[in-house]
Amino acid sequence: MRPPYFLLPILSLTSALPATSPSSSEVTLPLVIWHGLGDNYAADGLTDIARFAEETNPGTLVYIIRLGTDPSSDRTATFFGNLTLQISQVCADLATHQILSTAPAVNALGFSQGGQFLRAYVERCNVPPVRNLVTFGSQHNGIARYENCGPTDWVCKGAFALLRGNTWSAFVQSRLVPAQYYRTVEEYTGLPTKEYLEHSNFLADMNNEREVKNETYAENIARLNRFVMYLFEEDTTVVPKESGWFAEVNGTTGDVLPLRNRTIYTEDWLGLKRLDEKGGLIFETTEGGHMSLSDELLENVFRDHFGPVKMVEVLSGDKRLLQGTGQEVMEL
Ligand SMILES: *[C@@H]1O[C@H](CO)[C@@H](O)[C@H](O)[C@H]1NC(C)=O
Ligand SMILES: *[C@@H]1O[C@H](CO)[C@@H](O)[C@H](O)[C@H]1NC(C)=O
Ligand SMILES: *[C@@H]1O[C@H](CO)[C@@H](O)[C@H](O)[C@H]1NC(C)=O
Ligand SMILES: *[C@@H]1O[C@H](CO)[C@@H](O)[C@H](O)[C@H]1NC(C)=O
Repeated sequence: MRPPYFLLPILSLTSALPATSPSSSEVTLPLVIWHGLGDNYAADGLTDIARFAEETNPGTLVYIIRLGTDPSSDRTATFFGNLTLQISQVCADLATHQILSTAPAVNALGFSQGGQFLRAYVERCNVPPVRNLVTFGSQHNGIARYENCGPTDWVCKGAFALLRGNTWSAFVQSRLVPAQYYRTVEEYTGLPTKEYLEHSNFLADMNNEREVKNETYAENIARLNRFVMYLFEEDTTVVPKESGWFAEVNGTTGDVLPLRNRTIYTEDWLGLKRLDEKGGLIFETTEGGHMSLSDELLENVFRDHFGPVKMVEVLSGDKRLLQGTGQEVMEL
């Protein structure tokens, strides 16, 4: 196992950097992965991805988020639970993890619903702070329709059986995970419904859609170095798939209102505009249906976004900076 980050030697630096004669050393940041609905931390696909991330950027510590002590309870927690509590459990787990807690920053990779949950981690906690956040097929603007369960997936069926109650009831909102990112809009205005704004236990808050905005959420998002959102071109699981790009879709006409045209962006409720203005908001597509991930795609993502960074100690001004392979820096 690698030593805690604060034990890494500070090497002297030869390349051109700020005029304050800094010193630096290169580190590979840990990678935190949050899996999707119906998956579990020990699933083969995930362990393969973790190994592949380590091979691509040697020295990467990969931490797969878990909400249960065994794979089965971790899977159950993707369907059942109160997201407020789930997010705070993950915040506590990362903040107290022996190695992660000593890292200057981490990178984060979210699959499907894990993507918006990692964004929630950034907004609410962000200790250790996330440098680059990459999400695949996530539901950043929520879902307009629930997914179907597999024919023998009894845990899934049991979870959705809760919908015999109203989506907006406290009973459902505190128990069914996808209900907490379900989003409804008014048929004529396209504005979020009153029920959603009042009762959504997760999304309405995380997207700062209520009247009172939480400035911490926006500051934390704006502080990211990069937020990369991948959309699967033939995604039929997520409705609408453009939620992966934080877009709004008219359910009747199918017209897409891109994020940059939406009030959430123009009024910068979430810091996305600030992030975009420094070049950190990236929209990507990839072919195939929901979660079709090729090795080639993953390798490119690992190289482009999770590669080594230079830790730069800027001596004057008492600032610590993290510099990537380009000139972009992130203040710690
Ligand atoms: C905003 O979010 C932060 C982080 O979760 C929290 O500590 C703070 O209480 C929230 N502020 C308001 C006004 O709700
Ligand atoms: C979820 O848990 C939080 C924290 O305990 C609580 O404040 C909130 O009311 C719960 N949500 C629902 C819908 O019950
Ligand atoms: C969808 O588009 C139609 C046609 O332009 C419009 O009448 C309707 O109000 C729109 N609905 C929403 C929810 O924006
Ligand atoms: C989004 O904004 C751009 C630039 O202001 C504009 O050209 C475009 O028509 C808008 N798109 C939609 C769907 O409103």
